[in-house]
Amino acid sequence: MTTAEEYAEFGSREARGVSPTYERLSAAIARDDALLALLDTLPPGKRQPNLLFGVVRWLGGPVDDPVAFHDFAVTHWPAVEAELRTRATQTNESGRCAVLLPVLAALPQPLALLEVGASAGLCLYPDRYAYRYGEHEVGSGEPVLECAADGLVPPDRVPRVVWRAGLDLNPLDVTDPGDVSWLDALIWPEHAHRRSRLRAAAAVAAADPPLLVRGDLVDDLPALAARAPADATLVVFHTSVLYQVPPPRREAFVRLVGELPGHWIANEAPEVLGYGGLPDPPSDALHNVLALDGRPLAWTRGHGQAMSWFA
Ligand SMILES: C[S@@+](CC[C@H](N)C(=O)[O-])C[C@H]1O[C@@H](n2cnc3c(N)ncnc32)[C@H](O)[C@@H]1O
Repeated sequence: MTTAEEYAEFGSREARGVSPTYERLSAAIARDDALLALLDTLPPGKRQPNLLFGVVRWLGGPVDDPVAFHDFAVTHWPAVEAELRTRATQTNESGRCAVLLPVLAALPQPLALLEVGASAGLCLYPDRYAYRYGEHEVGSGEPVLECAADGLVPPDRVPRVVWRAGLDLNPLDVTDPGDVSWLDALIWPEHAHRRSRLRAAAAVAAADPPLLVRGDLVDDLPALAARAPADATLVVFHTSVLYQVPPPRREAFVRLVGELPGHWIANEAPEVLGYGGLPDPPSDALHNVLALDGRPLAWTRGHGQAMSWFA
């Protein structure tokens, strides 16, 4: 896929109906030869829309007007390029806990949670957030995570978590304002509710910071898993991570996680783990697949805003 095609596809498949600002911007960049030429000087993984938009926002540039965006990005290209080369899309969305919760709550309690690709670790606190599945409410406090759930009976209680740890190539620190402002810049412009959710979830995590280890989800997983208490159910999980991992390493990860005790929860794009025989998704919007121990269970939306359980 060319960079122009990547931007056009992002606009029509990811941003459409979710962020009109980014839909407009990506369509304009798909036709912007000057900016595309600059992006093409970067390694492929550094050209992606989410990263470019986040960097420009983080540098204080405009994203609501494609012409102003172009002018800012081209004029400030050395600074934009430097940030693109060093930063990564590490969006940390606590809302994804709403799709993990039904599976976590059904496992033998208590749980030892180990998240790979944890970013700042905000998905490590499913027991400290509140949830609303339609009329059904679970948990207490802030943030309140809303999820339109089809085909399942939502859990009655949050899980009991006695240990939580995360592994990431570049862990972010919720107590560092610079890291939190990068997480904020990665949130799409119109998503004020996600911005307040980030602040609320970061406050929960900062009050009791998680154990976050810098490392790779294959090379460093066994050592971290060995630190989990033996009298709790180990749950290795990941959401929106494996698309960033090359296929041979994904396969190594799947083999490795299968050898560990406990359970494995994946919430990833359907093509990433290559499940066969999935039912049709509920709509044309991008969906992830929630799976327990390799068995697909539900379609889920990217930020945890909806899930549709398989019959
Ligand atoms: C898009 S973020 C998702 C963060 C979090 N799981 C969530 O759903 O909010 C993906 C994270 O995976 C991490 N990551 C990518 N490849 C990794 C690897 N090989 N080992 C560990 N972490 C990795 C990135 O650094 C990034 O923080």
